[in-house]
Amino acid sequence: MGKCPRCEEWNTFEERSEEEIKEVFSFPPLSLKELEEEKEKRITLPLEEFNRVLGGGIVRGAVILIGGEPGIGKSTLLCQIARYFPGKILYVSGEESPYQIKLRCSRLGVSGENIFILAETILDNVLKHLQSLEPDLVMIDSIQSIYHTSLPSPPGSVAQVRECAGILIKEAKSRGIPLIITGQVTKEGIIAGPKVLEHLVDVVLYLEGERRGIYRILRGIKNRFGPSQETGIFQMTEKGLEEVRNPSSLFLSDTEFAPGTVVVPIEEGTRILLVEIQALLTSTPFHPPRRHITGMDINRSLLLLAVLEKRLGIPLHRFDVFVNVVGGLKIQETAADLGFALAIYSAWKNISLSRWVIMGEVGLGGEIRRIPRPEKRVEEGKRLGFRRFILPPEEMKKVAGIEIIKVRNLKEAVKLLKEKG
Ligand code: TYD
Ligand code: MG
Repeated sequence: MGKCPRCEEWNTFEERSEEEIKEVFSFPPLSLKELEEEKEKRITLPLEEFNRVLGGGIVRGAVILIGGEPGIGKSTLLCQIARYFPGKILYVSGEESPYQIKLRCSRLGVSGENIFILAETILDNVLKHLQSLEPDLVMIDSIQSIYHTSLPSPPGSVAQVRECAGILIKEAKSRGIPLIITGQVTKEGIIAGPKVLEHLVDVVLYLEGERRGIYRILRGIKNRFGPSQETGIFQMTEKGLEEVRNPSSLFLSDTEFAPGTVVVPIEEGTRILLVEIQALLTSTPFHPPRRHITGMDINRSLLLLAVLEKRLGIPLHRFDVFVNVVGGLKIQETAADLGFALAIYSAWKNISLSRWVIMGEVGLGGEIRRIPRPEKRVEEGKRLGFRRFILPPEEMKKVAGIEIIKVRNLKEAVKLLKEKG
């Protein structure tokens, strides 16, 4: 093509062979034995929770994407990785000046001759420095800030993000060094966010939490080299992200429960966390009433509210509904359905359910469905001192010292709560 139909310039097309494009994403086949050896090549850092999410450590040549909202702690995590990584590190920041990065590093106690800070946004310059420095690890913070001068679209656009990431990935793969990319997730800008890169990279992690809260969850979404659903839990302190060793009671508040609060056990990777869901109903003359849900899927929540209205006759159309999950956790499991439903019920009836641990999926008919690994959830609840459990009707052995009550539908659950208080 002579003239570009987009920018209307002549001879701006660059030829790329199919091989060149394929090369980027091609791994040679490995025998099982070689795969075994690959496992050994992981670089483990003294950041247990980070290793855990990666499945043991950073694999050489791996491309890791860390997504998260602005201010959540991505750059902080990169600094901490840099601190422990053995070898020469190129830290490319398109968002902060070297001085700002230096400030953060000193705050975190990170120093060293092996960490090279490059404040740069033009891709070609990044590549130039990468080639001359020959680092053992490259970190790009963030991919949205880097741009290719020959693309007409603005920095942060889908085309730029894809193209720049593609070129950086190719460069890192050809050198056999790991590459860590951060990606901003913004509420409105999901389009050009990390999502468009997920298929290009080996590992996708999301850093979640409430910016003003102290907990951060590093969640594995995809992992070519290990378990993909693992999570790491951190606390944001003045010394950066600190690991939380025993997190199962982290998402419970210490105070007496108000009506509308329930405890549900959530499976996060291989761990069980006990989490508090809080619901508040306020009557409103307006229509439609408000539904403000934080920490749970909005569509699932709306479905459950409809089931509650239909099966239990709770007049939710007259109430604004506010639901919050303590500690900024995002619940994704349907095992929390029954907890959500009973939180709403207890808010409506103004009764306290503080001593119960509640689990079960709720169907459209109000029936309670089975959930994966109930024993493990009960065990963790018991360990944390809970004595009463509401479960779906499944074959679960008696456990000494605790009361397990199985319910088949919402009506039964509500009746039980009325009797037992
Ligand atoms: P940052 O890593 O800059 O977030 P991101 O790169 O995802 O945008 O960190 C953001 C917040 O973390 C910032 O508000 C300050 C806070 N913070 C701490 O609480 N302790 C620390 O040691 C550091 C470095 C940051
Ligand atoms: Mg940052």
